[in-house]
Amino acid sequence: MKFFIDTANLSEIQQAQDMGVLDGVTTNPSLMAKEGISGVEKIIAHYKAICSIVDGDVSAEVISTNYEGMISEGLELVKIDPKIVVKVPMIADGVKAIRYFTDNGIRTNCTLIFSSGQALIAAKAGATYVSPFIGRLDDISTNGMDLIESIRVIYDNYGYETEILAASVRHPMHIIQCAQLGADVMTGPLSAISALIKHPLTDIGLAKFLADHAKSNK
Ligand code: E4P
Repeated sequence: MKFFIDTANLSEIQQAQDMGVLDGVTTNPSLMAKEGISGVEKIIAHYKAICSIVDGDVSAEVISTNYEGMISEGLELVKIDPKIVVKVPMIADGVKAIRYFTDNGIRTNCTLIFSSGQALIAAKAGATYVSPFIGRLDDISTNGMDLIESIRVIYDNYGYETEILAASVRHPMHIIQCAQLGADVMTGPLSAISALIKHPLTDIGLAKFLADHAKSNK
């Protein structure tokens, strides 16, 4: 399973990279705004900075909601760095744009996926990644994991190569359940990734090992 970090915060991206388990980054307009990044020049510089930290894919989202606008934005985004994957919303013009990008060798992440039908259409258009938002489904009392399971079945039935990028991950159990269900990638906050490391018995066990070592090495 690939681990992406879902942030535009350079310090958090660096921390995840330093952990040695990072495969990529996802951003969105809200995450960029949270870091105070605005204006074309600053946005481009920020994506360059992110790409200089990570080895893997970096999703950069288009703002346009019409076909022509998405194409022109996407073509500019991919000039920034070969790691850039164009993130396109699941709307009719977005599907057309994904088909254009696919036909022109440009990788895409189809975002804001909330149903299996949307994931099926994205795969048919040739999306590299599809991003089902599991946390936001959980927020409205709908089991996000059911969506991951359903998309996995559909993609396996037909051999679609689109990777399931479980998004809107909020906590470590989301990551574990996505791994059990065969999501190809998960994107989540640093807190969820770091939480996978922790176990109280590990801490207790390590303290005992060190205490015993100290006793016999006085
Ligand atoms: C996905 O790529 C999105 O950036 C993200 O996972 C959304 O997560 P949220 O629901 O926590 O905002």
